[in-house]
Amino acid sequence: MNVLKKFLVAALAVCMAAPAVFANGDQEGGSGGGKPLIGVVMPTRSEERWNKDGNAVKEGLEKLGYAVDLQFSDDDIPTQLNQIDNMITNGVKVLVIASIDGSSLGTQLKNARAAGIPVISYDRLLMQSPNVDYYVSFDNYKVGRQMGQILVNGLKLDNPPKKPVNLELFAGSPDDNNSVGFYQGAIDVLQPYMNSGVVHIPSGQIERTIIGTLRWDAAEAQKRMENLLSRYYSGNVILDGILSPYDPISLSCLEACKAVGYGTAGKPLPLVGGQDCIVASVKSILRGEQYATVLKDTRALGAAAVELVDKILKGQTITGLDTTSYPNGATVNGRPYVVPSLLLDSVIVTKDNVQKAVIDTGYHTRAELGL
Ligand code: GAL
Repeated sequence: MNVLKKFLVAALAVCMAAPAVFANGDQEGGSGGGKPLIGVVMPTRSEERWNKDGNAVKEGLEKLGYAVDLQFSDDDIPTQLNQIDNMITNGVKVLVIASIDGSSLGTQLKNARAAGIPVISYDRLLMQSPNVDYYVSFDNYKVGRQMGQILVNGLKLDNPPKKPVNLELFAGSPDDNNSVGFYQGAIDVLQPYMNSGVVHIPSGQIERTIIGTLRWDAAEAQKRMENLLSRYYSGNVILDGILSPYDPISLSCLEACKAVGYGTAGKPLPLVGGQDCIVASVKSILRGEQYATVLKDTRALGAAAVELVDKILKGQTITGLDTTSYPNGATVNGRPYVVPSLLLDSVIVTKDNVQKAVIDTGYHTRAELGL
């Protein structure tokens, strides 16, 4: 377990020891105490971003006069199903769901539709069900392209050294549809460099299903990195870069590399990007270890979800919807169902723009970053 995970698990233990109202989420009475109740479900409390997301949505909705039942599912599918069942029973007016396994909620989504509860798929697309009303997320394919571009920029692939650049590739959780966009975007950027021989993948492991990391588990990625290093990187074969779809994976890959001597004179750390702009990664970027990350502003995503809930309940027109990018595998009237989506923009963060993109925008404070 990495340090961040340990801290969050410890924090969770403290919450669970707290009075019942806290342990049960932030529910304000089954019916919302007279206010319309909104159900918000996040996959886990043990990752920095979902805490931020959950709290941003909760605070935003409360400001508009809603009551919020916010639940975190401990990355456990039965727990998530239960939480949603309870929310439907408690009469929530809208469900905002960031799933663990996007395809596992079919029954709950059907029940929500039958009860007239609109469903917003939050950040991760709910799959294989027509009972999903909206999707709020980032342009995940573009995020993937940014992951690839980080390697192109950092490793100067357009101005290549004589020797091929050795890369290893990591992908996200296979049960999370976002992993598909991230991978496809990154591969579309990197493929020409692989084809021309500028980039070499010594392990030969390229398929998304082979390089995937179930539940985005950084410890699992670290083990895979250790195995790759011991199997394919002996003698003069040096790892130059890593495609990473998620900051904790980047950090644990760097740990695996340090453990076999990378980061010492003559053997620099491989260049790695990431995603989510977590505090530990921004600190690593400032130390010159992780090279970059992709910032997806959870405050903006939370605000988009809040506005959507409010518009749905007020019967207002929802504008700016993308109606072509996200088919979710279901069919309606014999046609693929494309979930109407609101897609936000993401930003590459390196040492050069941390101040502007992260600190000036208040995403992380100087104190959080230890500055
Ligand atoms: C993805 C999300 C990423 C990252 C990852 C692990 O679905 O889009 O930003 O947070 O899950 O939690």
